[in-house]
Amino acid sequence: MRQVAEIFPTERQRLYNRFAGRLETAYNLSRKVVSFQANKDKPVYRWFKYKEGFSSSLVKYFLTEYSSKPGRVLDPFAGVGTTLFAAQELGWKSYGIELLPVGDSVMQAREALNGIDTEQLTKTVKNIWTELAEVDLYDQHIKHISITKDAFPDETEKYLNKYLTYCSKIKEKKIQAVMRFAAFSVLEEISFTRKDGQYLRWDYRSKRKLSGKPFDKGKILTFEDALKHKLHQIITDLSPNTSASLFNQFESNGHEQHPVKIIQGSCLEELPKFEDDFFDFIVTSPPYCNRYDYTRTYALELVYLGCSNEQVRDLRQTMLSCTVENKEKIDQLNQFYTSIDRSETFDHVMKVYDNSAAMTEVNKVLDELNKLQKLNNNNIPRMVRNYFLELCFVICEMARVTKNGGYCVMVNDNVRYGGEEISVDLILSEFAENFGYNINKIFVLPKGKGNSSQQMGNYGRTEVRKCVYLWQKR
Ligand SMILES: C[S@@+](CC[C@H](N)C(=O)[O-])C[C@H]1O[C@@H](n2cnc3c(N)ncnc32)[C@H](O)[C@@H]1O
Repeated sequence: MRQVAEIFPTERQRLYNRFAGRLETAYNLSRKVVSFQANKDKPVYRWFKYKEGFSSSLVKYFLTEYSSKPGRVLDPFAGVGTTLFAAQELGWKSYGIELLPVGDSVMQAREALNGIDTEQLTKTVKNIWTELAEVDLYDQHIKHISITKDAFPDETEKYLNKYLTYCSKIKEKKIQAVMRFAAFSVLEEISFTRKDGQYLRWDYRSKRKLSGKPFDKGKILTFEDALKHKLHQIITDLSPNTSASLFNQFESNGHEQHPVKIIQGSCLEELPKFEDDFFDFIVTSPPYCNRYDYTRTYALELVYLGCSNEQVRDLRQTMLSCTVENKEKIDQLNQFYTSIDRSETFDHVMKVYDNSAAMTEVNKVLDELNKLQKLNNNNIPRMVRNYFLELCFVICEMARVTKNGGYCVMVNDNVRYGGEEISVDLILSEFAENFGYNINKIFVLPKGKGNSSQQMGNYGRTEVRKCVYLWQKR
């Protein structure tokens, strides 16, 4: 029987041929340099592990290699603010948009470190255990939602609630922010759960009724042990005597330091608020088109920050479509662009999307595979269609706000569904070209990543491209 790919092979191949000269294996950008791994021993980054982040070295590399002096930089998918803080160290004025309060709260904690009274923080940390022992009634507590219920051992939960109550009474706001952040950073370690991309995995010791093979996450730390360790790490990193000290980072290195500007919201609505030609550089990494659900993997952190069931559901739907649960946002986008009197932009974006022959081909192939029941979820075609459509809007706005001659660097992985590779790099670059960017390079990381375990079973371990795109505004 003929494969679906054989029926529609041409448009993606044509696009590949057109960009082939721009694809370049970047031996200096190994996976390790690009990914969060490169940050993992650095102060602040090691406090809260945001595995979806990229590395500060990557940001610094592009900003210094492609710009002669600091200007304004933007990350519309700011995560925990790697772009913003790395650029700040180099004297740039940083702006970020991030939807999830998880990233936002890490960034706020980081901002709170500027000018914090470390002596007072050390004193607070020293006294914490005696002071906590005195809290017997707590007026602050975690309000669980269905997907987090019973995530902590009872004793841990009690301690956590006491701690929240204690933190709420700390008068000095910066100290309070850092203390709250310390517990926020250990939630996974003290819980029965493990972050696992699409959802949380639950340990067999939890009270939940679990099906399938029992999962053992190994040692579950007590609240006291985990917090002690975290606070020690924070104090060490803040100490002026340590070589890795944050103070070395806060010192200006000869550059003027500007406070970072963080906007919490969706870049689909926030980007249009910036004026034209405002930024010299964009360094960003959107969610990948890989079904990864940040609102489920970070559910503990979201409830810790006070999000209700409804708010978590709203966040899931507001995120760039990258899960099979995401519904279309096209009507909202239409209304939004009409409300800001920019319907012509909406029409233009739709035209660019509809005119992409490779995109049309991908959508057709996925619909066909769905009919043949070759996809393991029948919402995958909808997710892919909307992922690209929403990014088409984002790229249009990014091009508008980038100055002529300015750059956009984007980190993203290609994906594969039903055995079909989807060339995220080429399709997004084609959109970018239509909105006024030159495609200078598509740097391909030396080692791409394998498939999901499900897909490996069916199609063998082949690699999809993992890339860093370099676009320059014409
Ligand atoms: C790959 S991560 C970026 C990580 C970032 N580069 C870092 O180093 O921390 C993608 C981020 O996009 C955010 N995001 C998803 N949809 C968004 C939207 N519509 N607007 C703004 N941010 C969004 C996610 O919450 C996630 O933090």
